[in-house]
Order: sequence, then C-alpha cells, then structure tokens
Amino acid sequence: MNKNPIGIFDSGVGGTSIWREIHNLLPNENTLYLADSKHAPYGPKGKDTIIDLSIKNTEYLIKQNCKIIVIACNTATTNAIDYLRENYKIPFIGIEPAIKPAALQTKTNAIGILATKGTLSSSLFSKTAGIFAKGVNIIEQDGEGIVDLIENGKLESPEMTSLLKTYLNPMIKANIDYLVLGCTHYPYLMPLLLDILPKHVKIIDSGQAVARQTKAILQQNNLLNTEKNIPENRFLTNGNPEVMYSVLNEAFTIEVSNF
Ligand code: DGL
Repeated sequence: MNKNPIGIFDSGVGGTSIWREIHNLLPNENTLYLADSKHAPYGPKGKDTIIDLSIKNTEYLIKQNCKIIVIACNTATTNAIDYLRENYKIPFIGIEPAIKPAALQTKTNAIGILATKGTLSSSLFSKTAGIFAKGVNIIEQDGEGIVDLIENGKLESPEMTSLLKTYLNPMIKANIDYLVLGCTHYPYLMPLLLDILPKHVKIIDSGQAVARQTKAILQQNNLLNTEKNIPENRFLTNGNPEVMYSVLNEAFTIEVSNF
C-alpha cells in the first residue's frame, strides 16, 4: 500500500502547482495526476455538477490504487469535499484560499481574494472568512476567464494582462497589502501579478500548506513510502497535452486519457 501513488486531481493543469509542492516535500512518493481539462473550468458550474465531476475523478484514482487523494482544486474542495469524505473511505486532502494568514498579517486591514465563482459562493468559503477574517475588509474577485485562458495556452497574452488589470485595480485602490490566490491555476500568473501589483503587496497561496498536510496525514496512517527507488510521476490529461507540457516545464511524459 505504501508504494501506491498519491492521487491528485484538478479541473485542469493548475493543480500541477500543488503537485510540485508535494513532490518537493515528498520526493520518494509515486504520484498520479489527473487534469480534467475537458471539463474546465469548474468555477462557473453548479455545486451538483462539481460534485459529479469530483466523484468521477475520485473513482478513477481509487481504481488506480491511490492511497490518498489530494483535491488540488479550490472549487472542487469547497463544493465537494464533504460529500467525498462522507462517501469514500480513502483519506482526502483539500485546498482552500489562505484567508487566515492574510487576515492575521494584514497591516492595512484590507486583503484581496482572487478565486473562482464556485469557490467564492461556497458555504465553506463564507464559513472560513467569517471565522478568520472578521473585521477585515475582504475584496473578493471572481477570476472569470482566467482558467479558460490558461487552459487554452494563453497564460502570457495581452488578454490575460488586461483581464488581470481589471480584476486587480479595485483591490489596489482599496489599499490591500495581501493578495490571496484562491485557485490552483493562479500561481502560474506570478510574473504578471508582480508586474501589476505595487511592490508592498504580498501574494500568498496554500500550496505548501497542502503539501505539509499531505505528509502529516500519510504519516498518521503509516502510509509514507520509505523505499528509496526513483518514484514514478504520472500525468494524465483529457485535454491538450501541449498546455500541460508548457506549465510543467519538465521532462515528464504526459498521457492522454479519457478518464
Ligand atoms: N484550479 C481550480 C481551482 O483551484 C480552477 C477551477 C476552475 O476550473 O474554474 O479552483
């Protein structure tokens, strides 16, 4: 069982930003990544559809003998993790926007959250914001269109720059000093975000926290892979493998599959 892979899924290529953190922290682990690009974006879809897609991905990863599942997608986590935990025995790790550290550290008392509509409208998001960011001015922005551009190979494009400016300008005007990236596709926007935002604005995401939590849960369940063999990292996409190559930027084989 310990040699079985860590299963990871996202609505597309964005969750590879989480895979990278997991791989850095747990280099011995075998991994199996599913990019459900055929159904991207999840963000504008309704809760039931997001749950159905998450079930499909989960069942595929379980059939491939994964020992744990990392939902490397804020939208799927905030809408489907409760359902998944109630209905499957396998341990799940989810990802949520890092509101808590931003709310604790802000000096201007204003933080920006860029996430999908599905995440921002979820009850889990309102609950977390209510508990950890009471009294903080939260400027929420639905990142509509960003995931589409990334999934269509337009990560660095004039359209992306102008969309980001539109989304970030109200946050800059509100004097935010933290920007929370609430979607796993967004860490790939870092060079553009740094260009647009004033220098004092810090950008945070939850990638490293998810990797640490994955390690902790594997440890608790005695599931860490202690073998020293070179691990197998498999990447499956039901979309365009070229987009996956361009974000991964590493010499992995990408398999096209109809999961
Ligand atoms: N990476 C997904 C997330 O973290 C993107 C959601 C989408 O497909 O809209 O929310």
